[in-house]
Amino acid sequence: MREQHVLLLCLFVSYASITKSRYFDEGDECKLEHKGNYSKFPEDFSFGVSTAAYQVEGAWNEDGKGPSNWDTYTHLHPERIDDHSNGDEAAESYHRFDQDLVALKELKVNFYRFSISWPRVLPFADTRVQNQKAIDHYNMMIDKLLENNIEPMVTMFHHDMPEELTKFGGFTNDIVIKYFHYYADFLFKTFGDRVKKWITFNEPFVYCIPAYGNAVFPPMIHAPGVADYLCMDNTLKAHASAYRLYKAKYSNYQKGKVGMAISSRFYYTNTTDFGSEDIVDRAMQYSFGWFAHPIYGESGNYPFTVIEDITSNSMKEGLAWSRLRPLSLYWSKIVKGSGDFLGLNYYSSHFARMAEPPEGEIPSWEHDSRLKLLVDKTWKRAKSDWLYCVPQGLEDILKWIRDKYNNIEVYITENGWSDEGKLDDTDRIDYLKSHLQAVLNAINDGCKVTYYSYWSLIDNFEWNRGYTERFGLYYLNVTSENKERVAKNSASYYRSVIESRKLS
Ligand SMILES: *[C@@H]1O[C@H](CO)[C@@H](O)[C@H](O)[C@H]1NC(C)=O
Ligand SMILES: *[C@@H]1O[C@H](CO)[C@@H](O)[C@H](O)[C@H]1NC(C)=O
Ligand SMILES: *[C@@H]1O[C@H](CO)[C@@H](O)[C@H](O)[C@H]1NC(C)=O
Repeated sequence: MREQHVLLLCLFVSYASITKSRYFDEGDECKLEHKGNYSKFPEDFSFGVSTAAYQVEGAWNEDGKGPSNWDTYTHLHPERIDDHSNGDEAAESYHRFDQDLVALKELKVNFYRFSISWPRVLPFADTRVQNQKAIDHYNMMIDKLLENNIEPMVTMFHHDMPEELTKFGGFTNDIVIKYFHYYADFLFKTFGDRVKKWITFNEPFVYCIPAYGNAVFPPMIHAPGVADYLCMDNTLKAHASAYRLYKAKYSNYQKGKVGMAISSRFYYTNTTDFGSEDIVDRAMQYSFGWFAHPIYGESGNYPFTVIEDITSNSMKEGLAWSRLRPLSLYWSKIVKGSGDFLGLNYYSSHFARMAEPPEGEIPSWEHDSRLKLLVDKTWKRAKSDWLYCVPQGLEDILKWIRDKYNNIEVYITENGWSDEGKLDDTDRIDYLKSHLQAVLNAINDGCKVTYYSYWSLIDNFEWNRGYTERFGLYYLNVTSENKERVAKNSASYYRSVIESRKLS
């Protein structure tokens, strides 16, 4: 999925009257100019599309699948989904993979990023019951993709957690590290002979804060600044533990790569703000850096600013410990370097400034970070209220990664645009084109970006937004019996880019 607007109240400020930030060019009309010597994507650059199990599969209780947190939540709380829909049927991809495959072949993508449903393969979360029908299903998918020269890129966790685990705390209980370790072992053993690209977790920031901070995702826990941080800590350790397992047991002969998909915006600030560079860095550390810094940074720990602020706030609040414990030496060694590539989900950017005094509940991410995040009124907005077209932000975040993390190889695991689902989707084409331009500019500037995945192949169940926001290159006809996937104009645009390897 993509970023959810959950963190902060976005204030709408007109920047028309003030000088543009020094980081930002005039005329940000969802366009980006070409920079650099190469107008073509490198020969070995891979283009793909993404989906996630709960958002497309349907068949929520078929063939031995166990319930997930999202099954339970959408069934108990239909009122929380804008159109009262759920993922019970979705695009029926569990039964209609052939239709997805037709679309994938039409697009001529080089890879397909999809997720395996943990409760489908291991209905009780642990390995006591291994669901053979589910194993057969994913084997079929992987084999058919390979037969068609489409590389499978598999996300191991994309928000659908076995309900079993939710019963004892889900991501706030550190036993999840062990559960995930054995789930990962099972996946590597079962599918690793053919799957060579593994994404452990999809954008933890975007499920931890809504699920355990502000209670808008299952299991609807409201404990900001505490339970959401525990979730992120346990996710980071579970990721690293699975990575080490792969290195120790599988990588010698399977020769695949393992990483995490981290979501982030890029941040800009106002030229006239005092210490504005620090603000951009602070905003990056408080979002992207929360996961990227421990894995790809030098210290093998959370960003220094984040540790320092939260420790000091915890003391002020009268706690005897910090709500964000730094990683121990033991964990630091496991976490540091635990990524063969960096998966990036980029959708949009923000302006940031310091909130004086800090806003938000005490405690909370908003209060700890002391950031106030804003958007520029000139940015074009999608159907999603958090999604503005800022292609320059993608170019800039890629350069930031190049400079801060030793030019680690980057896979853009998600990037996409929402509307209400029209077939003549000019805005999506503009978004796609300008963001691919950003990738090309970054490559021209020495960034090591090798994979780009558009979110999404088809319109799908967009979490709390149901089917009201659609990101697909293919329209999903939910009302029709055969759930046709109908190509939007953006599908043929993307195919032409993939075929020619350049932007027109
Ligand atoms: C582009 O090509 C010119 C001429 O060959 C060269 O001087 C310059 O460094 C190149 N720029 C980049 C960004 O590769
Ligand atoms: C930008 O700078 C101006 C002038 O100092 C200030 O009034 C305004 O609030 C700033 N905006 C943001 C978002 O920081
Ligand atoms: C969706 O399906 C319905 C019922 O089969 C049909 O009337 C409609 O034209 C379809 N819409 C699109 C865009 O194909």
